[in-house]
Order: sequence, then structure tokens, then C-alpha cells
Amino acid sequence: MRKKIVAGNWKMNTSISEGERLSAEIVEKSKDVDGVLLIVAPPFTHLTKVADKLRGSRTALSAQNCAAETSGAYTGEVAASMIAETGAAYCILGHSERREYYGETDETLNKKLRQCFAGNLSPIFCVGEKLAEREGNRHFEVIKTQLQNTVFNLEEEDFGKVIIAYEPVWAIGTGKTATPEQAQEIHAFIRKTLAEKFGAKACETSILYGGSCNPANAKSLFANGDVDGGLIGGASLKSDDFIAIAKSF
Ligand code: PGA
Repeated sequence: MRKKIVAGNWKMNTSISEGERLSAEIVEKSKDVDGVLLIVAPPFTHLTKVADKLRGSRTALSAQNCAAETSGAYTGEVAASMIAETGAAYCILGHSERREYYGETDETLNKKLRQCFAGNLSPIFCVGEKLAEREGNRHFEVIKTQLQNTVFNLEEEDFGKVIIAYEPVWAIGTGKTATPEQAQEIHAFIRKTLAEKFGAKACETSILYGGSCNPANAKSLFANGDVDGGLIGGASLKSDDFIAIAKSF
């Protein structure tokens, strides 16, 4: 059975003390959340402090990025092994903001994927089309290429640790959400594409939806057979909203 997952991508938000408070609230309020894996992804500077708050709870910790190299003279970078040392078990990779603002290419992402597995982190790997690609009816082709150039290169054992997040770029932080039909259509397509390479193992892959997901629309999105949860940005910064989303299955 694949896991239901709700992950909060805090992006570059919260002070360290706000992050500690937010994670403590999530731990407290998630006590009656059953059968859903919760993950929070704070900024690097918060990881050890948030790990302290999450210890013994059922909420797991993620980073938002990792270095493409193992160690050495890479000023400003943080290695996957350093992230794992904080207690984090996951790492978001390939978010459209990283692809767009920091020039991350498929080549960089392949290196980062390797670093994650070597460092014992499970990647939450993001794919998604831009508005012009959706309007030009090229979204299937774009997603397929993103997967073929990255995840398809993985060994089957490593692929088993990957969580996919489908995040249409036009829906991120815009208040525009994919309709439940659009989400299901693409999620089923992603699973079918993954199955072409990894066979039945693709049935076990959790595929999350991301892009203006909130307590009002989560239920209709999660009701679809191939939508296994969400990667939540803005709404993950309020514990009540994040927990309400986690209770939307
Ligand atoms: P959003 O962000 O929920 O604020 O649209 C989602 C994401 O970028 O992961």
C-alpha cells in the first residue's frame, strides 16, 4: 500500500523561534491524525531545532534542497549527509522555484538525487508544467520528459524511496488550483509513465499534488485514486490549515 502524505514546504519563511512554535503546534494538533505521514520542510537553519520539537512524534523532517556534491569547497552549499545528521529523512528536489530562479537543470537534479540516496534521504521530487505549456496542451510531454531525464535514471531500489510531487507552476502561490479532474488525469499519467520504466513498483509510489492546496479544496483533490496527498506551501505555515489538510482524506 502506498503512503498518504501531507508535506509542508515552508520555503523561506518563519524565524527559527516561529518555526519551533509552528512545529510544536503541528505535533500537538496532529495527535488524532491517523494513517497519514506528515512531513515539514523548514529552512536549513531551522532543521536541528525543529528536529528537537518533532522527536517522538509522527511528523517527519525534510530539507528543501541539498548540494549536488558530497563535501568540499562549495561555499554556501549544504550536503545531504549534513541534512541527514539533523534528523531529517527527506529532501525536496526540483521545485520549480529552484529550477527557475537558481538554474537547476536535469543534470544538477540527477547529481542531487544521487547525493540524497548516498546521504540516506528520500527525495520529494517535483515536476510540473508552466502555464504556456498547459495552454499549448504540452503538459503531458513536459512531465514525461522531466521524469525520463531524472527519475528514470534511478536504480529500482532507489526509485522505491522516491515521492513525486506534481506541482503545476501556474498553480503555485497563485490561488489557482488544478481541478480534481486535472490533478487525477496528470497523476494517473505520471504513474503510467513511471510504470513504463519501473513496472508494478510505480503502484507503490506516493504522488502528491502541490499548488494552492488548502483546507477548502484538499478533500476534492485527495478523493482521486492517484492523488496520494499534497505538498503544501502557503497553507502549511498555519498549523490549523496544515492539520485540516491532513484530515482531508
Ligand atoms: P503553494 O505552494 O501551496 O503556496 O501554492 C506549493 C509549493 O510550492 O510547494
